[in-house]
Amino acid sequence: MGAVYGNYLRNYKNKLHYKTLMAEGRFTNPVVASLAGVKDFFAKQELASRFSDEDRADGMTVLITGANSGLGFALAVEFAKRGARVIMAGRSKIPEAGNQVKKLSGSELVEMHYMDLSKIETIHHLVQSLADQATQIDICILNAATALPGSRKTTSGQDEMFLVNYLSNVILTQELLLKSVIKLETSPVSKMIFISSDSHQGATYIDYDEFGTYFEYGVSKGISNYSYFKLVLNTYATELSRRINRDGVKLSINVICPGPVASNIVKEAPWLLRMTLKGIFRIVFKSPAKASRPVVYLALSPDYEGTSNEYLHMFNPKKMDPKVYEPVEGEKLWERSMELLKSIDADFKAFVS
Ligand SMILES: NC(=O)c1ccc[n+]([C@@H]2O[C@H](COP(=O)([O-])OP(=O)(O)OC[C@H]3O[C@@H](n4cnc5c(N)ncnc54)[C@H](OP(=O)(O)O)[C@@H]3O)[C@@H](O)[C@H]2O)c1
Repeated sequence: MGAVYGNYLRNYKNKLHYKTLMAEGRFTNPVVASLAGVKDFFAKQELASRFSDEDRADGMTVLITGANSGLGFALAVEFAKRGARVIMAGRSKIPEAGNQVKKLSGSELVEMHYMDLSKIETIHHLVQSLADQATQIDICILNAATALPGSRKTTSGQDEMFLVNYLSNVILTQELLLKSVIKLETSPVSKMIFISSDSHQGATYIDYDEFGTYFEYGVSKGISNYSYFKLVLNTYATELSRRINRDGVKLSINVICPGPVASNIVKEAPWLLRMTLKGIFRIVFKSPAKASRPVVYLALSPDYEGTSNEYLHMFNPKKMDPKVYEPVEGEKLWERSMELLKSIDADFKAFVS
């Protein structure tokens, strides 16, 4: 009886703890979040007429994470069609997705590499093998993300969504720079594009006290954390640009929300919720091919050549949440992320400090 009561008290305290301390994203209800996507579907597309089939990627090497499915897959097809060597990084459908991209694009310059962002060592392994082949990435698209219905602890001790949607992107970008797989040059300027979500707007300030701490949570906190982690990701992208591009743009680092995409992002939601969301997706969300257009535009159009710290919401230039641009926030996030990484990843070294 005493043990049962002890457990109950511990769980209750845990719940109170995360409710009061962990930061919140904009949405607590996945259906409301999807309806916001419906609104986006009908929104104006200011720069859509600037999208052109003439913007080519011949001779370029493009790395896309999460390229086996949804938006990432559509991007792989589009860049391959436009002449790029495409490196698809993912944790599943190897080599089927790569073969499909070859077939759909008519290009043989497509390869697939294994990388599971919830397993830190696989990130090091991918970057090392690219470095060993002296690969030079011209465009890196950080697309992979997951929307889980609740917490899940990874082998390195972090929450899976925190690791996949945020922290792994720090490891990957720092490693690519450290091993010179991406070079910092003023001409031509290489590019990093962070695929984010406009749902980050309105998320609360980053909680540094609880940063990286594992907590149990369920569906409503799941969707809230998804948008919160996008705020964290955007703050990192902004700080990375601030640090690298102090004296002119040496790496173009931009952020984009593709808008609503009829993809597999809700595949792990509970059955009833998944069916409801899939219904909404099918009727009003954009196909991955259509949703990929503003990303291709941002990556290849002369309009964005040599730019950094820009944000597009589909084809609309916008500002991110104001917190993302606060230098103090960027600095704190940088320090906490580096501290955390040093404590969980013996192989981690920061490129820029
Ligand atoms: N769908 C939307 O309405 C929407 C709206 C705004 C922003 N976005 C953003 O768009 C991007 C693409 O999402 P999507 O809609 O195309 O969803 P998706 O079809 O589920 O694609 C997500 C990709 O990320 C990969 N991924 C997930 N966990 C991974 C891990 N541990 N290691 C490596 N790869 C992992 C998935 O691989 P598996 O297939 O193996 O799971 C998949 O390839 C995401 O950044 C998402 O946040 C989507």
